[in-house]
Amino acid sequence: MRILVTGGAGYIGSVITERLVERGDTPVVLDNFYQGHREALPAQVQLVQADLADLQALERVFRGGQMEAVMHLAAVSVVGDSVREPVRYYRENVGNLLPLLEAMERGGCRRMVFSSSAAVYGEPTEIPIGEECATRPVNPYGWTKLMGERVLSDAAAAGDGTGALRFVSLRYFNVAGATKASGEMHHPETHLIPRVLEAAAGERPHVELYGTDYPTPDGTCIRDYIHVVDLAEAHVLALDRTRSASGVYNLGNNRGYSVREVIQCASRVTGREIPVVNHPRRGGDPPQLIASHRKAAEELGWKPQRGLEEMIASAWEWRAAHPRGYLQ
Ligand code: UFG
Repeated sequence: MRILVTGGAGYIGSVITERLVERGDTPVVLDNFYQGHREALPAQVQLVQADLADLQALERVFRGGQMEAVMHLAAVSVVGDSVREPVRYYRENVGNLLPLLEAMERGGCRRMVFSSSAAVYGEPTEIPIGEECATRPVNPYGWTKLMGERVLSDAAAAGDGTGALRFVSLRYFNVAGATKASGEMHHPETHLIPRVLEAAAGERPHVELYGTDYPTPDGTCIRDYIHVVDLAEAHVLALDRTRSASGVYNLGNNRGYSVREVIQCASRVTGREIPVVNHPRRGGDPPQLIASHRKAAEELGWKPQRGLEEMIASAWEWRAAHPRGYLQ
């Protein structure tokens, strides 16, 4: 299958692209290299360097009607930035979805897997969080993802619904881990596990613990971590699902770890001491996010296979093999 992967040179996109190549599909990666890296992609993958705002570039991609589906990952995704620059977030995550959908329609491409986020739930009223839980984002990033889902569900319902778009939206919880070829490298890095590993490697003097007074057993926030390879597998299953139906699914392990537990696990896996410094809370962090993945298990046949240790170990191995990230 010929599949467009937007943001395919990014951390998650490159692992999905790798998986598509493995299963014999033909991914075409569209990326503006704002956060993506060419070096993260298998050499044979066709690359289109373009921005989603560029409708003409998009139309060229879909010309000829050969593209069967889109995996739409390209987005800006740092919660704190979204609070500081909401307009940019709405333009990139919501505005840029529109030319993509228009170009798809003109090119006769009717299937999409959309990258959404646990951020759509805000401060959830129940744990574990099911897809029917109220969606009340607490930051612009979460709103952009929820609005994206809204646009897609209206597009899917247009006309009598037949021949219209079919989409699966995947609400990621906290993604971590690496493959041999692709790992996480953001500039700047804001995520917990890469920062913890930087501290383990001595590249950072310590990890800052953002808040120790949350209503959780050890006072630090609890998150549900999911291995990027399990996430890639969910995308492939979701893609198959778009042959027959649309839907929204949570992707997490159904298991929470506190920030302190993550640091302890990283210390065990790396055999290094990881210095910690207590800091005040970071704005907008909900105390606890744990997914129910029952729906993804039942309807997509998805079962995550890899736990926190494997995520940290694979990320640590990737760092050891790429000491300068993709800069070598
Ligand atoms: N944390 C620290 N110190 C750090 C970095 C993070 O204590 O140096 C804490 C955070 O406060 C949070 C937890 O570690 O409690 C996880 O933080 P991350 O930044 O790794 O991840 P988030 O849970 O904030 O965000 C992730 C995705 C977002 C998505 C969100 C959904 O990165 O895109 O999950 O809730 F919106």
